[in-house]
Amino acid sequence: MDTRCVTRLNWGLNIMDRLNSSPRLMLVSDLDHTMVDHHDPENSSLLRFNALWEAYYRQDSLLVFSTGRSPTLYKQLRKEKPMITPDIAIMSVGTEITYGRSMVPDDGWVQFLNQKWDKNIVIEETSKFPELKPQAETEQRPHKVSFYVEKDKAQSVTKALSKVLEERGLNVKIIYSGGIDLDVLPNGAGKGQALAYLLKKFETEGKPPLNTLACGDSGNDAELFSIPGVYGVMVSNAQEELLQWHSENAKDNPKILHASERCASGIIQAIGHFKLGLNLSPRDVSDTGEEVSSPHLEIVNFALLVEKWRRAEVESSELFIAGLKATVLASAILIHPSGSVYNMKEYLNTFRKVYGDKKGKQYRIWVDDVLATELAPGIWLVKFDKWELCGEERKGCAFTSILSNKKEIRISGFGLVQFGARAPDLVGRLSPR
Ligand code: GLC
Ligand code: MG
Repeated sequence: MDTRCVTRLNWGLNIMDRLNSSPRLMLVSDLDHTMVDHHDPENSSLLRFNALWEAYYRQDSLLVFSTGRSPTLYKQLRKEKPMITPDIAIMSVGTEITYGRSMVPDDGWVQFLNQKWDKNIVIEETSKFPELKPQAETEQRPHKVSFYVEKDKAQSVTKALSKVLEERGLNVKIIYSGGIDLDVLPNGAGKGQALAYLLKKFETEGKPPLNTLACGDSGNDAELFSIPGVYGVMVSNAQEELLQWHSENAKDNPKILHASERCASGIIQAIGHFKLGLNLSPRDVSDTGEEVSSPHLEIVNFALLVEKWRRAEVESSELFIAGLKATVLASAILIHPSGSVYNMKEYLNTFRKVYGDKKGKQYRIWVDDVLATELAPGIWLVKFDKWELCGEERKGCAFTSILSNKKEIRISGFGLVQFGARAPDLVGRLSPR
């Protein structure tokens, strides 16, 4: 049991307060075509990653999403895909940093980016290039001006534009990604600079991450791999421009892996390759009957079990229900989102009715932001959000449970003492943002 388990009292206000010590792993990942596979309607690799992270990393590591998307499009993606909540979100190609689920902005970063930057001059000069087609209004941000440009024109436009903007006294950075997007940013911005800024901040706090893994697929991710000491994974489906950058600049760096697996599965592969920690997702393990080692894993496994039961992927048997009941204390109660209170053992009988009700459907359950606090030796208060996706329909619920691995409560693993759910409409936190 990891006793460094953290409390998140200042959650959203100051991420540094959350960790008692250095994060074991800081995982910094791009979203589109890296964490999120847009060619996988089942979202299998993302769901594998989610289960791995919540079971083994959430309590003592840091999850950072670093995306080119503006906050608007980032929030939209969170609604569309079964994503978990990162500790830090870096958006708009490293020009906006926010902390926690409430997305508190880093004002220090904004001030830093104002140096030698004038958005109006960028707009004025770029408008003289007919090859540059402006992106949607949501993607134009205080420190990011974005366009589409065809592949064959990208290099010449970049060169000419850099020259003009330099002559106008600006110090900018121009990044080409995905064979189509061109972003103009302050020179001090970008995904790499934002990561360097965060690493420095952790260092100042005396909590530098023990390991950092950067994950990406396209041009704007290249910078992430240039930060000293950082491990990197280019997922198997990485774009040509990133692979080219790699062969020109980092070919001999053993800390950078070109994974053989796509998207989030490539990330999991890299965790194993660089020996950064456990890389066996609970989704890849069939129930071994082995003793569960942490309350986090217990929660993840329980959600998976319910998913399998409803998809009829486990055998329907009284043994299953009896097994579930065995994990529950006789006096355990369930507080239903409706407010009704049930005896937990009795409530488990209702499971019989839902066996296979999602068979053949696109039905998935995942848990997010599992937070376990040890109240007394062997007694854990565990908070988490549980999400269900059935086709297009999505439901979320915030849970608070008390688990214990005390011998008098359960012989092995964790027994359930109390389970409480709060309906999403009662706790605004449950709409994905
Ligand atoms: C995302 C952003 C877009 C940007 C691109 C590459 O797609 O929405 O504005 O150009 O990433 O950084
Ligand atoms: Mg990408």
